[in-house]
Amino acid sequence: MLVNAKEILNKAKEGKYAIPHFNINNLEWTRFILEECENNNSPVILGVSEGAAKYMGGFNVVSAMVKELDKSLNIHVPVVLHLDHGSSVENAKKAIDNDFTSVMIDASTYDLDTNINMTKEVVEYAKKFNVTVEAEVGHIGGTEDGISAELAYAKVEDAVRLYKETNIDFIAPALGSVHGIYKGEPRLDFNKMKQIAELTNIPLVLHGGSGIDDEKIKQAINSGICKININTELQIVWSNAVREFIKTNNAYDPRKIIKAGEEAMKKEIKNKIELMGSLNKA
Ligand code: 13P
Repeated sequence: MLVNAKEILNKAKEGKYAIPHFNINNLEWTRFILEECENNNSPVILGVSEGAAKYMGGFNVVSAMVKELDKSLNIHVPVVLHLDHGSSVENAKKAIDNDFTSVMIDASTYDLDTNINMTKEVVEYAKKFNVTVEAEVGHIGGTEDGISAELAYAKVEDAVRLYKETNIDFIAPALGSVHGIYKGEPRLDFNKMKQIAELTNIPLVLHGGSGIDDEKIKQAINSGICKININTELQIVWSNAVREFIKTNNAYDPRKIIKAGEEAMKKEIKNKIELMGSLNKA
């Protein structure tokens, strides 16, 4: 069942757990994620970066694929089709026009006024279609889709302004997490996290959820995080399993090769669901 993110994130906020956002990269990944979330009765957010959408053939192809898989796999858990890091108002609108149920507008590289204006425009459009909106403040560093950026911690007052002036549904304040592999220990600012959660009273999003130890993930959830984005850790477990399979099998059938990572990926998805507390929360 495709839904927007409002209800599942608000429930997570009340129940003090988080909903996993797993990035999808192809049809097989989408199937593995949907099946494992269904098996664990967990709501799920399928994150689609602009790069991944382009790779798969465009927003229209992605949404047709997700809708059809949802039906043919007989998925009952709530599934959100979410644009991850939409870089322009135009792209966010395009995702909405192609039946995405949730979008992120990431105008965090602009000054705060521009970020607010761009976000507002997306929110106004999204509300007409019952689509939820996430926005970013400060700047999440690291590498994603081959693009690297420096981390800039969000200011509490900027997060509050972004929320109050745009009416977004959930907010991603950059508070020490980065995309990709961490160099050294992640240094999350839990105090600011709590302050932003209290002052905005909307669900908070943790990007760069891979590579953060379990205790810190739990502390983040206790500090107001309700959505945790995972991409790199699934890529690592999948590619390790595929590499091992190719080393020990003379495989050339692409279906067998891609599928070789299924078990490892599903195991990791289950771990994340248990860690985030979304087990049986569908
Ligand atoms: P990771 O690279 O840590 O998995 O983060 C993914 C992410 O935040 C997508 O928006």
